[in-house]
Amino acid sequence: MEEKPTSVWASNRFWQRSAAWVTGFAAMLLIWLTFDTGAQISMGTDEELKSGITKRVPAPTVINYNIKYEMSEKRGHEVPVIGVKEPFFGKEWSVEEAAGLLRLGKLTSQAKNCMNCHTLLGNGAYYAPDLTKAWLDPLWDTYLERTGKSTKEEAIAEFLQFPSKYPTHERMMPNLGISADEAIGLVAFLKHMSSIDTNGFPRNFGKIKGAIHGR
Ligand code: HEC
Repeated sequence: MEEKPTSVWASNRFWQRSAAWVTGFAAMLLIWLTFDTGAQISMGTDEELKSGITKRVPAPTVINYNIKYEMSEKRGHEVPVIGVKEPFFGKEWSVEEAAGLLRLGKLTSQAKNCMNCHTLLGNGAYYAPDLTKAWLDPLWDTYLERTGKSTKEEAIAEFLQFPSKYPTHERMMPNLGISADEAIGLVAFLKHMSSIDTNGFPRNFGKIKGAIHGR
């Protein structure tokens, strides 16, 4: 029988080879991405913070610094900017103390299941405000007056312990039985989370709150 020239698209061999190459390439890409992500999300150290080296996830001692949220024209969204030192609950926290406090806050956030209503770093629910940048929420200024506290961290801790005393949104946060110590841990957890460079997520945080962009 005479051999007909067949198109390459009809050849099994071609598709088998393509599949093998694509699978191989994807596997290499995923391995590379895994290492790259690992490096990007690993926590910075206190030394890096002190010498002004910016890490995507700064060390726990970032709670000792002022954190601002500023528009980066280059990147097209807001980025956290770590500023000068400021006391947190009236003191500077050592490396060990800050790590311990953050741990307490994280465990409390899990025990009280904040994610059931809120979103943290892209995980959770949208029943209540996104907490990723909650520390930077300009609304806290109004809480200073309402709670009669003199610092933002104290006002947030007060709100967390008695949320129904200071309602702001239409939906109210229930009283979750958070102790004074747990509240301090949670505020540290929120402050640290706000210092994480999340490529501008959640989007439009500033615009929704109507302040950061406009000011
Ligand atoms: C049952 C749902 C629910 C759970 C669980 C919950 N919250 Fe809330 N939270 C809300 C609602 C609703 C609001 C808005 C209430 C308001 O402003 O009066 C809110 C508001 C807040 C705010 C103010 C945010 C802002 O920017 O205005 C913070 C901070 C907060 N919650 C932290 C927490 C933390 C931390 C936890 C876990 C320990 C938690 N919440 C668990 C429902 C919840």
